[in-house]
Amino acid sequence: MAEKSKRSQFVTRTGVIAATVGSAVGLGNIWRFPYEAGMNGGGAFLLIYVICVFAVGVPVMLAEFVLGRGTHRGGAGAIAAISGKRFFKSVPIIGILASVLILSFYSVVAGWILEYLYWSVTQLFDPQVVDDYSARFGGFVANPVRTVGWTVLFLVLNFLVIVRGVEKGIERMSNILMPLLFLILVMFCVNSLMMPGAAEGLDFLFNPDFTKLSPSMVIDAMGQAFFSLSLGMTCLLTYASYFNDETPLLKSAVTVSVLDTLVAVLAGVVIFPAVFTYGMTPEAGSKLVFEILPAMFVQMPGGAVWAIFFFVLLFFAAITSTISMCEIPTAFFIENCKMKRRGAAAVVIGGLLVLSTLCALSFGPLSGVTMYGKTIFDLFDYVSSNILLPIGGIIVSIFVGWVVDRKFLNHQLSINNRCPQWLLTLLRIAMRWLAPACIIVIFIYGLM
Ligand code: PHE
Repeated sequence: MAEKSKRSQFVTRTGVIAATVGSAVGLGNIWRFPYEAGMNGGGAFLLIYVICVFAVGVPVMLAEFVLGRGTHRGGAGAIAAISGKRFFKSVPIIGILASVLILSFYSVVAGWILEYLYWSVTQLFDPQVVDDYSARFGGFVANPVRTVGWTVLFLVLNFLVIVRGVEKGIERMSNILMPLLFLILVMFCVNSLMMPGAAEGLDFLFNPDFTKLSPSMVIDAMGQAFFSLSLGMTCLLTYASYFNDETPLLKSAVTVSVLDTLVAVLAGVVIFPAVFTYGMTPEAGSKLVFEILPAMFVQMPGGAVWAIFFFVLLFFAAITSTISMCEIPTAFFIENCKMKRRGAAAVVIGGLLVLSTLCALSFGPLSGVTMYGKTIFDLFDYVSSNILLPIGGIIVSIFVGWVVDRKFLNHQLSINNRCPQWLLTLLRIAMRWLAPACIIVIFIYGLM
């Protein structure tokens, strides 16, 4: 328990929620959710997504919380503190692999945000200058110097934050900035709801069309749930190792999941009315929000100022997520290779520079390089979110449901939650059976 007293802890319950939401809310909600929903038919995707969040996401998040807070250790340490079985040691390895793959393409999208911020500042949203946002985006991503340049800048910023140890400062800033992001999204929703395409947009997002149900859509919805909630890569497990002994785990997991889902739905309510108003198609893929937002800002009074404000907030949402992801491989190198923090961060960011350059070039010179019909960017995204994170999630959930002592589990779950026995039993069943079974069924269904 010496370990325990050395660890700094979040002091308040709001601190716990804010930090966890800071990791969860990111490009996953505002960029990836609308694009996945758009590609997968809207309402039916949203429905399956919400089911995945609550049937699979919440139990897996709870499992990560129980392990982290119960052992006061992160990643490999938490698993090793409970069992020496080799099989479970694969979780931290999956976490490292998934975080590196996600960071590789995530940094590229964060680079797009920097480009759009730059455009907004340099008056590119002047209605006299721009008309075809689709062509402009296409031209930009095909330009290797610009996309790689912004990606490199983003990764260098991450490096500076990690080696200077100012993550805490950034997190504190995000406690103010994330509520602002939420407010600005609500404002944009109001703006979108007044558009002529509002009814069609809302119908697309909320009215499930079950003919759109397909194996690949269900896999995408589950992958999106894991991605958006930052699950399956021991990231939240590490956060929970800093929770204090009074944090109510179930309430926290439910609050974080609800808030994260709310932000994604708000993003959908902003985007889809605009899609139908401007006669664009929801199936545009990863470029969807980058085509819609400029068109929307141009129509808004004071659009350039809103654009700058919004992209700054989005940048912070992205960097709080990437910092929490960078910590996974960085901590691995510090603990296992006896490296100093600076050296470990340099290795991680150095490797990411190479991998994310490949992802950035997937829209230009490397667009012809494909595997299973996917570019490098899409492949990294698919493998990490749709395969690695759910596998990591199954293992953590099984570990906590079957291996961890029942008393330990019940104790962790009932601190400050006043959990009745039936709820404790239900939660254990969710970790033992429900979450793993859902993931396996979705995988099998997807393979068909
Ligand atoms: N959940 C974050 C997002 O939605 C991404 C993320 C995944 C962050 C995994 C940390 C760990 O953008």
